[in-house]
Amino acid sequence: MFLTIGNVLSEAGLSEVQPLIKALDWRDGAHTAGARARAVKRNEQADLSSEAGARVVAIAQDALASQPVFQSAARPRTFSKFLLSRTAKGGGYGAHIDNAIMGRGSGQMRSDLSFTLFLNSPEAYEGGALNIETPAGTQSIKQDAGDLVLYPSSLIHEVTPVTAGVRLVLVGWIQSHIRDTAQREILFDLDRVRVSLDPSKVSDTERLILDKTVSNLLRLWSVS
Ligand code: NI
Repeated sequence: MFLTIGNVLSEAGLSEVQPLIKALDWRDGAHTAGARARAVKRNEQADLSSEAGARVVAIAQDALASQPVFQSAARPRTFSKFLLSRTAKGGGYGAHIDNAIMGRGSGQMRSDLSFTLFLNSPEAYEGGALNIETPAGTQSIKQDAGDLVLYPSSLIHEVTPVTAGVRLVLVGWIQSHIRDTAQREILFDLDRVRVSLDPSKVSDTERLILDKTVSNLLRLWSVS
């Protein structure tokens, strides 16, 4: 599933994050890329181990945890470490695939879904579109600050060269409780039906059976 969700980070969240970002230390993004991706990665990544970095991560985690559409679409089981990326003029990230297995030791996870949370306005930079190759053609994404795009990690994608200004995003990966994209979409659709039901026209029994169906599909399909 491919999804764009608006205002995942509110105005208040963005106002809190922006000064924190100014306090962060940055280094070459090639350090966090796989061997192949490293050759095409031209950006910088923030050191999020500092106090300001930890606060940025906590704000993003809270925003994701309280976003029902994101939760329903992703069914997150495990999150990767988040990366805060800054791409200035001349930077970009050529076509690549993300690592299927991330982390080390007991912290290892499979990347089912990738997300990009946009932290500054699209007017703040030229170029810097996130292009994702889907079976239906290339999706070119450049969202407002606070918006998030969620897409299968299995897709080839790139960030086109930034020709002016600076692009700021937070990216991360998710191992979902539901490994299969089609199954995840069925559960997402059932959730959409559930929230759109008119309470005056649906009996408690009907709602209970729908809840039972969703729960039992989760039991059938979830992987640990
Ligand atoms: Ni990537």
